[in-house]
Amino acid sequence: MTDTPTAVMAPTLSMRGMCKRFGHIQALDHADFEVRAGEVMALVGENGAGKSTLVKILAGLYRPDAGEVLLDGEPFDLGGVLKAEHARIAVVQQELSLVPTLTIAENVFLGSSRGRTWRSPHRLAAEAASYLERVGLGGLDPLRSIERLSVAERQLIEVARLVARDARILIFDEPTAALSEAETDGVKRVVRKLRDEGGSIIYVTHRLDEVFDLADRVTVFRDGRSQPPTAVSDLDVDELIHRMLGSRLEAMYPAHGTTRGEVVLSLEDLRGPGLAAPVGLEVRRGEIVGLAGQVGSGASALLQVVSGTVTSFGGRVRVDGKAVPPFNISAAIRMGIGYASSDRKKDGLFLGRKVSENLTAPSLHLVSRTGWVMRSRERSMGERIAALFKIDPGRLRSIAGTLSGGNQQKVAVGKWLGPEPAVLLVDEPTRGVDVGARAEIYGNLRDLAEQGMAVVFASSDVQEILGLADTIVTFFRGEMVSIRRRQDTNTATIMREITHPTHGEVGP
Ligand SMILES: Nc1ncnc2c1ncn2[C@@H]1O[C@H](COP(=O)(O)OP(=O)(O)OP(=O)(O)O)[C@@H](O)[C@H]1O
Ligand SMILES: [Mg+2]
Repeated sequence: MTDTPTAVMAPTLSMRGMCKRFGHIQALDHADFEVRAGEVMALVGENGAGKSTLVKILAGLYRPDAGEVLLDGEPFDLGGVLKAEHARIAVVQQELSLVPTLTIAENVFLGSSRGRTWRSPHRLAAEAASYLERVGLGGLDPLRSIERLSVAERQLIEVARLVARDARILIFDEPTAALSEAETDGVKRVVRKLRDEGGSIIYVTHRLDEVFDLADRVTVFRDGRSQPPTAVSDLDVDELIHRMLGSRLEAMYPAHGTTRGEVVLSLEDLRGPGLAAPVGLEVRRGEIVGLAGQVGSGASALLQVVSGTVTSFGGRVRVDGKAVPPFNISAAIRMGIGYASSDRKKDGLFLGRKVSENLTAPSLHLVSRTGWVMRSRERSMGERIAALFKIDPGRLRSIAGTLSGGNQQKVAVGKWLGPEPAVLLVDEPTRGVDVGARAEIYGNLRDLAEQGMAVVFASSDVQEILGLADTIVTFFRGEMVSIRRRQDTNTATIMREITHPTHGEVGP
């Protein structure tokens, strides 16, 4: 390659007229895309816009119906994962793809030629350690199995795995959706370094602040169609949202609640894994409580204990005054607790089953009789929830795993409406969800509270906490720091309390 400016500016990868159809859905409709060496190209768009489909074509997982791919200006046939690896294209998929039975080190080299030639486990571990270091997981023993790791840690191992590929086209599909601020910084550092080393980075995200922080240019997808790439310096957030949605977004957050009924959920000296100190909390009907904290703060851990997903070490959970037996998910559901977990893949959804089956899964006792599912009841419940959560009713019979990430999230939260719980616990309600769907989910949760439900959600997004919660509980390193009404706190206070509260601040 010569050093003329045009050669420098020529894209490493360019895709023209890409089409991909799934049944009646045109996921990509003559989309164009390109990325240059030494740049971060952000790829944004609403849920279902076709971003992951493009990524999977690049990874060799899907074959496009039409379109032309040029690599360094030469036509290139992207057929199969080996072709992609040969072209030095590497991807962090939106869905985690690690193998739970393998060690961390084996996962880091999973599918790469280095993993295929035999090396002693210790040699492999030593090599893996340097990649773990680069993504800020230097403290992890590479010989451990990945089974007990958090979603965030597993996500970072995916990034380490990509770094280990020695690729030149590096694709990140929502790498930070499950991460806290601090962990996100780790990913951003890696991305910048890879870019500075001359890599061509494709970065898919719903966090628009990341676009401005990280990307050089941005491509917007809407309904499978692309808009021409734009330098980030020529855009502001409003303009970007406008391009994504095609119209200005009305207020993101619904009005706050005014009515608070009697106490429905009470936690007394509750202890459990991930909680460094006992927690006491009361939640009233009609109230939305936001548990603010970074990954590992105890906010999600508390929801797991209350839902019976993990065992408590002591204390009590009461719904309407009645004690809920610990570590018993079905008892918790029967007594009126619904829990939407943050790990859709592990315990959120049956990805291989139909959307309608997923929507009624927590309500089997309501839609079945003597062990038989009554399809008409299943259908009407599914339709009711779909209408509430604006899930396309035409997709009720689709397999859940084929929905876009954001629509999966709506199903994962919406399915809890079937049993009409008194208390709805939601962990990271908008993880991986675009701005449009976000606003819908916030509106839905507020509607549920208005109807008398008590909603408790955990989030690491301070704007989301302030925008949605009536009562805000902050967590830091397994301990509750404060309980405040929303009007008695602000962004700076919450940020301080969830990152480094001063000593003595712990306790309401
Ligand atoms: N394997 C599949 N089978 C059927 N439909 C699919 C499949 N993969 C994707 N789709 C559909 O194609 C459309 C585009 O999906 P895609 O996953 O590319 O969206 P996305 O932009 O990545 O969305 P998100 O931001 O929610 O991840 C969606 O309507 C999705 O349901
Ligand atoms: Mg996607």
